[in-house]
Amino acid sequence: MNNRENWTSRFGFIMAASGSAIGLGNIWRFPYITGTNGGAVFLLIYLAIVFLIGYPIIIAEMTIGRRTQKNPIGAFRALAPESPWWLVGALGVMSGFIILSFYSVVAGWAMAYIFKSISTFTVNTGFAEFFSTYISSLGEPIFWHAVFMLMTILIVSAGVVEGIQKIVKILMPLLFLIIVFLIIRSISLPGSMDGVNFYLKPDFSKITLQTFTDAISQSFFTLSLGMGTMITYGSYLSNKENINDSAAYVIFFDTLFAILAGFAIFPAVFALGFSPEAGPGLTFITLPAVFAEMPMGSIFGASFFILITIAALTSSISLLEVVVAYLVDEKSWTRKKASYIIGGIIFLTGIPTILGYSIWSDFRFLGMDILDTYDWFANSLFLPIGGLFISIYVGYIWKANNAIKEANKADGLILLGNWYAILIKYIAPAAIILILAINLWQTFAG
Ligand code: TRP
Repeated sequence: MNNRENWTSRFGFIMAASGSAIGLGNIWRFPYITGTNGGAVFLLIYLAIVFLIGYPIIIAEMTIGRRTQKNPIGAFRALAPESPWWLVGALGVMSGFIILSFYSVVAGWAMAYIFKSISTFTVNTGFAEFFSTYISSLGEPIFWHAVFMLMTILIVSAGVVEGIQKIVKILMPLLFLIIVFLIIRSISLPGSMDGVNFYLKPDFSKITLQTFTDAISQSFFTLSLGMGTMITYGSYLSNKENINDSAAYVIFFDTLFAILAGFAIFPAVFALGFSPEAGPGLTFITLPAVFAEMPMGSIFGASFFILITIAALTSSISLLEVVVAYLVDEKSWTRKKASYIIGGIIFLTGIPTILGYSIWSDFRFLGMDILDTYDWFANSLFLPIGGLFISIYVGYIWKANNAIKEANKADGLILLGNWYAILIKYIAPAAIILILAINLWQTFAG
């Protein structure tokens, strides 16, 4: 009875999973936290943490998905019937819903900036002012949020092979070409080496406990872990693929892309004399100003925002797919109906985050505006909790050796070894409990 769609090639699966992983987390957040957290030292710590925490959990998710051939809720129901473990899947489906509703709003800002880079921005634009005026308007941000959701819906409704796989096989190589193009421009500007120095200069004095928790949170978010995205994508994986190899490729591409993003950004920021430490404003305030100063900057600016839009799109389809897969598997909805109805509701759920910059700007939850509140619940709370239960489930209930067997079902370049049990039973859960505790402590006591 298994007529579930399968990725038709390993390349298709790796591009889809890398597409989910590579997103705003790589282009905006990684370069920024690396630059301010000790450069090359942070990079080494980050690589170790990706291996110790990201890697065991991505394998846990992919093996659960392929073994059960189901969405996150169905997967836990199949493995652990008559028990409350399906709630972990339910938390994941809900997280996908929440994350997409604000991710699409931010992606919409980037889409608007493609056109503004071409036709509106000049060296005299006050970029900080421009950005705050833009996000506190209503019509344009809602329009671009709608366009972005519609693109996401169209791809997901076309199916796993005919929609998602087809589009990522085109968009991921394109993404790579665009970033290489931007790096060449950035590095060839006079004075660019100061940016490279800032980015990678090892600085041990910047290493604190915060460095480690930043690295853990980043590895989680950037690999799309903790909500069953990789369970869902893994559920379309055939038994002919070795999961250890596939996971290694996804981690490699995600990390490579994050590092490359810093080489596209910092050399240009320094060459044109801007401050690299703008934090959240780097993408929408500093960089447009940098491009405005550059010869032919409108082309480079537009390319940069196209880069962000594409990276966000290949992530947003994975977020919608989690919810759609649940309704298709468990509630027998057609894929089309699920994509349009859920995509439509997510569009509506995103609108309050836009209103939070204007008519609802008085809203505060623990000091945060609406968008930050959505983000906090999803990223600081639900994803770590989801990841914790996934690692406990695989480590202690399903048992690590079953995951290892599933991963190695097909022969691969490197097989998953028994040491996997140590990572998934002890190291990953301990690290997640640590960041959960620190996140909560910082929110409520800090
Ligand atoms: N990984 C994406 C990024 O770096 C974001 C993302 C997509 C995500 N799907 C996810 C994060 C699922 C957590 C869970 O921007």
